[in-house]
Amino acid sequence: MAKAEGAGRTALVTGASAGLGVAFARALAARGFDLVLTARREDRLAALAEVLRRDHGIAVAVIAADLADPAAPDALVRALAERGLAIDVLVNNAGYGIAETYARTPWEAQRDFLQVLVTAVAELTHRLLPGMLERGYGRIVNVASLAAFAPAVPGATLYAAAKAFVLRFSEFLAAEVEGRGVHVLATCPGFTRTEFHAAADMTQATDTIPGWQWQAAEAVAEEAVAAVMAGRGPVLVNGTVNRFAAGLLKYLPGGLVRRIAARHPLAKRARADAR
Ligand SMILES: NC(=O)c1ccc[n+]([C@@H]2O[C@H](COP(=O)([O-])OP(=O)(O)OC[C@H]3O[C@@H](n4cnc5c(N)ncnc54)[C@H](OP(=O)(O)O)[C@@H]3O)[C@@H](O)[C@H]2O)c1
Repeated sequence: MAKAEGAGRTALVTGASAGLGVAFARALAARGFDLVLTARREDRLAALAEVLRRDHGIAVAVIAADLADPAAPDALVRALAERGLAIDVLVNNAGYGIAETYARTPWEAQRDFLQVLVTAVAELTHRLLPGMLERGYGRIVNVASLAAFAPAVPGATLYAAAKAFVLRFSEFLAAEVEGRGVHVLATCPGFTRTEFHAAADMTQATDTIPGWQWQAAEAVAEEAVAAVMAGRGPVLVNGTVNRFAAGLLKYLPGGLVRRIAARHPLAKRARADAR
């Protein structure tokens, strides 16, 4: 039998207490990777770790961290070193939405948001990449979003900007490390069934979005893991519907796209909130 890709290797998944993070952990466990799970809710991480150890016979460590704390990425990497864990796969997945408009959201909340969705992604990558390059093996999945391509409509101001950063960061990093055994992928999901929309108090708007626009978290994670393992990328738009939408966005006139997007339930809600 061929050796599993993950045998003898370790993956770190951020935001592993819910949604896509759980699905990434499962997809990597199924390939034989040992895991390090991080998020704030340690009880959830511990419960998932137990299931994954039992189902896959892998080693799973739990390190709770609040990535809004600027000291967290460095502390996390030091905790890994203390346990003698070298990270071969990094999934920068932790993230959330802010329901309020940019003007009305306090700066402290925006600052924390940038710390989690932008700075922690860049810092964890920066701290873990040298080891991957030295060993000649690394896989980095940065969870961006279809929002990185979306037309500008009210709402999601900093979210779209943060995800555009993740996308461009991944593209340029992939070019920098090409040919050195490290693959970098920005995966761009559209609407995905997780706890994201409830956590951001968006369900009143998102409940009206038709089922065909949604993907299961497992499908997104599996597609992204398969792509990065095969060295495909550096950008993956998840699912056929989203790929079609992202393709259309490139060719339709900007004015028309904005008029269509303005009818979206989330854009309508943001306009109502802004008044
Ligand atoms: N769902 C979608 O439709 C969708 C679409 C495109 C992109 N995405 C992206 O997918 C990623 C995962 O989101 P999801 O949909 O799986 O949402 P989710 O179910 O709400 O999970 C979010 C995860 O991020 C963690 N997290 C949030 N704030 C954190 C903090 N300060 N420190 C550490 N961890 C934190 C949460 O853990 P704790 O609360 O336990 O800390 C949780 O594990 C995000 O980057 C999101 O932007 C989602």
